[in-house]
Amino acid sequence: MREFSTPAELITYRKEMTKSVGFVPTMGALHEGHISLIKQSVAENDKTIVSIFVNPTQFLEGEDLDSYPNKIAADLKICALAGVDAVFLPNIQAMYEKDELTITAPKIKGFILEGYNRPGHFDGVLQVVLKLLNITSPTRAYFGKKDAQQLFMIQNMVKHLFLDVQIIPCEIVRESDGLALSSRNVYLSEKERLRALKLSKALKLATKMVMTQQFKCSDITLAMQEVLEDTKIEYVEIVDREFNHIEEVEIKNTIILVATFVGTTRLIDNIWI
Ligand code: PAJ
Repeated sequence: MREFSTPAELITYRKEMTKSVGFVPTMGALHEGHISLIKQSVAENDKTIVSIFVNPTQFLEGEDLDSYPNKIAADLKICALAGVDAVFLPNIQAMYEKDELTITAPKIKGFILEGYNRPGHFDGVLQVVLKLLNITSPTRAYFGKKDAQQLFMIQNMVKHLFLDVQIIPCEIVRESDGLALSSRNVYLSEKERLRALKLSKALKLATKMVMTQQFKCSDITLAMQEVLEDTKIEYVEIVDREFNHIEEVEIKNTIILVATFVGTTRLIDNIWI
């Protein structure tokens, strides 16, 4: 497995490759969620590149940029075992100039839900993902449905900027008790981890309601809020797959999303219906 720390080196490596390339961007502290993306890329492409970069521009003032879990040695082992061909580990200086153009996420869809609660977050995500896609020129790039709005923002960027890459949405990986895997789960104490199960429980309840023909979104979100009552809810929202607010669940065109604080840890989860 090759390791690269500068864009120039990786661009040269990529240019020598004529075969299909899968790309999995990450911020490290790799878990089974990331690994499932990596495995899918390894299975579907001749070569797989993984990036590990904690991107400062997508963190807001006061967020966990400085304490974001760092497990580089373990991450490299995981990548090697999963069959990754190249890992990109740039530092901030390698990725950013002091004064450079910026990208603004779409004014409406980029500033609802995650974008409303974390204004500017998607600007940073799109900025770094565009840079990474330019450096790696992948045939396919893999993103988790766990970050549903991020996935949607990236699909939109690819469409709006006519980027030549296939975006592959990947299923959410959960612990056996339902908790969606996240690098931030390490922040949870034992008690908080139990409370964190409320997110997947609320989503399960929503699924049950839909299965029993209860399609009214306000009824579903109310029932979910009850399940989540001892967490600090940021939003419980039901949208179609273009992230438009809807009144009634539309089968195969709906995403139910939740964001909540358990203690000081912000968790997100969702289900695609
Ligand atoms: P990170 O949080 O490290 O996630 C990297 C990728 O793994 C994302 O596409 C995310 O949706 C996916 N992922 C995380 N947890 C998952 C789970 N439980 N099941 C399935 N996929 C999961 O998302 C980012 O990094 C950054 O914003 C990034 C895109 C790298 C840009 O900096």
